[in-house]
Amino acid sequence: MSEKKILTAFFSMTKDYSFGKVERLVKGHTEQVADQIAEITGSDLYRINRTEALRPERIYEPEPIENFDQYDIIYLGYPIYYHTMPLQVSEFLKSYPFENKVIIPFTTHAGSGLGRSVAEIKETCKQSEVLDGLAVGSAEVQSAKQKIKDWTLKSLAAAESR
Ligand SMILES: Cc1cc2nc3c(=O)[nH]c(=O)nc-3n(C[C@H](O)[C@H](O)[C@H](O)COP(=O)(O)O)c2cc1C
Repeated sequence: MSEKKILTAFFSMTKDYSFGKVERLVKGHTEQVADQIAEITGSDLYRINRTEALRPERIYEPEPIENFDQYDIIYLGYPIYYHTMPLQVSEFLKSYPFENKVIIPFTTHAGSGLGRSVAEIKETCKQSEVLDGLAVGSAEVQSAKQKIKDWTLKSLAAAESR
């Protein structure tokens, strides 16, 4: 368990659009990865606001993060939308003071990897240190558990040495 205070913040839509099939999953792909990272690191877990434009009654409004200042390391998870992060995640980055924090991105995707998202995080959070991100294909979330674990431990060690 880390001496530093860690937050795992994620956005996840809990739907599978692959090949036109719309199927409600128990948990979104990114959420499944976020759960694993939070368990390994002993971090707090926070779901970034999500909106469902076609179903306004299902808009999810979470409580704001309390004492954001206490966190040293932030694992930031999101699905890739149009080769970058969803708008909700861009807004999240602008909503809290990320200065002097270490940000560790992770994503799930259908082929784009991390896309342009890491460049966008660096552009928005100029005073933060942004470490190498992890990209997990949506179809391999279950089979990638060891890869996720290895990357989490490695990135945590890197963040702690900062
Ligand atoms: C609106 C939208 C845009 C997407 N754009 C991309 C994309 O540009 N590249 C890609 O690899 N996957 C893209 N995807 C696929 C998602 O990144 C992928 O399914 C992801 O695992 C979903 O995560 P979630 O279940 O946590 O929401 C897109 C999905 C949606 C719904």
